[in-house]
Amino acid sequence: MSGASRIQTLSWHVPETVVTGAGAMKETGGLVQGVMKHPLVVTGPHLFQAGIIAPVLESLEEAGIGYAVFHETESDPSIETVEKIRTMYEKNACDGLIAVGGGSVMDAAKAAAVLIGDGGRLQDYEGAGAREISPLKMTLMAVPATAGTGSEVTPFAVISDHQRQVKMTVSSPFLIPEMVVLDPDLLKGVPAGLAAATGMDALIHALEAYVSRYGSFLSDGFAAQALEKIGHSLVKFVRTGDAEAAQDMLEGSFLAGCAFSLSRLGLVHALSHPLSAHYGIPHGTANALLLPAVIRFNQEAADRKYRQAASLLGAGEQTDLADWIEELNRLLGIEMKWDLREEDLPVLVRDGLMSGNVQANPRLAEEKDAEDIYKTLIPA
Ligand SMILES: [Fe+2]
Repeated sequence: MSGASRIQTLSWHVPETVVTGAGAMKETGGLVQGVMKHPLVVTGPHLFQAGIIAPVLESLEEAGIGYAVFHETESDPSIETVEKIRTMYEKNACDGLIAVGGGSVMDAAKAAAVLIGDGGRLQDYEGAGAREISPLKMTLMAVPATAGTGSEVTPFAVISDHQRQVKMTVSSPFLIPEMVVLDPDLLKGVPAGLAAATGMDALIHALEAYVSRYGSFLSDGFAAQALEKIGHSLVKFVRTGDAEAAQDMLEGSFLAGCAFSLSRLGLVHALSHPLSAHYGIPHGTANALLLPAVIRFNQEAADRKYRQAASLLGAGEQTDLADWIEELNRLLGIEMKWDLREEDLPVLVRDGLMSGNVQANPRLAEEKDAEDIYKTLIPA
């Protein structure tokens, strides 16, 4: 927990330019003028085919900037997709990356930036003894099309390694995009299920950052405002797609990303990655399912912070936060149970506890604790 008596040294890296507001994506061309001559726009198939990213491309054309488009980024992108982005970038002699999409698109572009700059295989940059990532040789711009991952502001890229059945994380402050555009128009038509899952992911980023053992006055400031914005707009955004609520969600998700870049996350994220890797449960949904049990596990260790968080979320300080989250999940249509197989528990526990986020959690979890939390997902 953060405290007044500790001396902390904080390294703070944030995007240099943030443009926010309805219609902001039409500023893309002007923003990159003089910075990129021939960028590669990285996106996903739906955003491209439905013409949702058309204002970005038109804005580039109006500014006289030629571009190439990679539009095959899948959810939970693979190492192979990252390699394809690198190949397309090099074949087209591009000089900048513009990622327009959700966390998957942004993470794939960030990981590709590493390979374009430093070469080799993505696996070389993962974990202990990893190759160092150099300053990027191009400018990276992020235009989020979901409000949740915070990837537009974090140093992390999460990529699926299907061979090893793991999600690998590549991390460097150089991967924080230099330019960010937050435009609620891009969120129009996001299906309610996706809006709910990504929105819960953002809420959990803010909450885990707020109670993190590595928290500070700086991460607390970002997390507190994120909790307020998300708490007051999430249900409205999911149910109605309201533009103001969408803007609050984008800004809340951005702030939550700033918070956890400083403080790391916690046990929810540690335990959710194996669920996604083994069962294909979407990241935000896996987090939302685990959160009530993790709050109950942490309650005593972080009681004051959870009360403050409940108040910031608009639930009231006296509210039992775990119960409130269960109700929120119901309101958002997130399934409360998942058919986990008992025999998979040892592998889930092993993979979950390997995460560095375990150390940031306010209470240290052991194997039995992780197993008990996973078991809460199994239908009675
Ligand atoms: Fe997350």
